[in-house]
Amino acid sequence: MSGNKPLKGIKIIDFTHVQAGPACTQLLAWFGADVIKVERPGAGDVTRSQLRDIPDADALYFTMLNSNKRSLTLDTKTPEGKEVLEKLIKKSDVMVENFGPGALDRMGFTWQRIQELNPGMILASVKGFSEGHHYEDLKVYENVAQCAGGAASTTGWWKGENAGPTISAAALGDSNTGMHLAIGILTAIIGRQQTGKGQKVSVSMQDAVLNLCRVKMRDQLRLDKVGYLEEYPQYPHEKFGDVVPRGGNAGGGGQPGWILKCKGWETDPNAYIYFTIQGHAWEPICDALGKPEWKTDPNYTTAKARQPHIMDIFATIEDFIKDKTKFEAVDIFRKHDIPCAPVLSMKELLHDKSLRASGSIVEVPHKVRGSYWTVGSPIKFSDLKPEVKASPLLGEHTDEVLAELGYSKDQIGKMHSNKAV
Ligand code: COA
Repeated sequence: MSGNKPLKGIKIIDFTHVQAGPACTQLLAWFGADVIKVERPGAGDVTRSQLRDIPDADALYFTMLNSNKRSLTLDTKTPEGKEVLEKLIKKSDVMVENFGPGALDRMGFTWQRIQELNPGMILASVKGFSEGHHYEDLKVYENVAQCAGGAASTTGWWKGENAGPTISAAALGDSNTGMHLAIGILTAIIGRQQTGKGQKVSVSMQDAVLNLCRVKMRDQLRLDKVGYLEEYPQYPHEKFGDVVPRGGNAGGGGQPGWILKCKGWETDPNAYIYFTIQGHAWEPICDALGKPEWKTDPNYTTAKARQPHIMDIFATIEDFIKDKTKFEAVDIFRKHDIPCAPVLSMKELLHDKSLRASGSIVEVPHKVRGSYWTVGSPIKFSDLKPEVKASPLLGEHTDEVLAELGYSKDQIGKMHSNKAV
């Protein structure tokens, strides 16, 4: 990391597990916060052992979401564990948690108790549903949130053998909620500078997914008003029902778009590009395709005129690129300023030179694994280059953190023998 660490001095109790919470605290750790991950002795975060690729080494699921943190093992259901957590709360700025509903209260750490211990404390929580919601008691994982937040209903195909609500591979429920929570935490930190008081910050996974589906809510409201959605592939040849339909690979915004096959698609599952027909790029598109006559043909000159036969236009473009790889196709279209991109596989992204140069894909040395590749900070600064450091081993910093809290060697030894840490 460069000399400037804006979150330096911010102490965060990271009481998170799986993905939603850890993604949030990892981001804050990259930017300089001291993030202490509190984990159950012996087991730790369940992702340490889930989907392992190396026996007895922390799984990538864990290492890729917990870099730059310290690990403290603590059984917070024992009196000694509770005492340690109380001391930590008194000395920290933020506590982040994503336990199931009510777990923190059952542990004895209600919001009221936390405020008594430290009125400046910011308590940040992820839950499946918001407080007071009729589903507030539910435990939630990624795909459940995608269904509850509107993403599944609006993703996928509306007809054909693959028709039905579809889950996105992107972690809209987990990491996305964590990113929302990070914004909430930083806002509460700034708020505390003004008032001196902490506050509770909550983000539900349903709300975070819905926030990303804002444009689909826009479409519902438009559909209610006019009965059709011009930019959807159903228009104008198919009937609309009363809910926003799934649009396959349609652009979904003001610019129609589609996934188009390129050379080799028969054997390469990713030999495709995404092509967008941006209104003011229409003439360059005609030039790129060698179709100058489309520039003046009234069936093509406006978006409205093109829409009834948009799939035929995409078929013509597909025919034009059938002997070109996805990279060759993009190289042609980029010269004409046409918004498009190759469909990149995880393998291609992992080895992408530009992503490695920018720090979006980084290699991190690890005590047990040797080293691992991970996704670095997507946020770039002019005066901060986050250095991604290894995720901690389970309990790697237990003694160090306890000593910082004022515990003697003897006391720490006793806690180990009592299995409180
Ligand atoms: N010491 C002692 N007990 C601990 C502990 C520690 N260090 N850390 C956790 N626990 C206990 C909790 O207090 C809880 O006990 P209780 O239920 O007896 O009160 C118990 O572990 C289980 O916690 P919970 O969070 O409910 O775990 P789970 O494995 O049953 O559920 C989720 C997992 C993710 C479904 C659930 O945590 C959840 O819904 N979280 C909110 C939404 C969310 O973040 N989901 C996405 C995850 S990516």
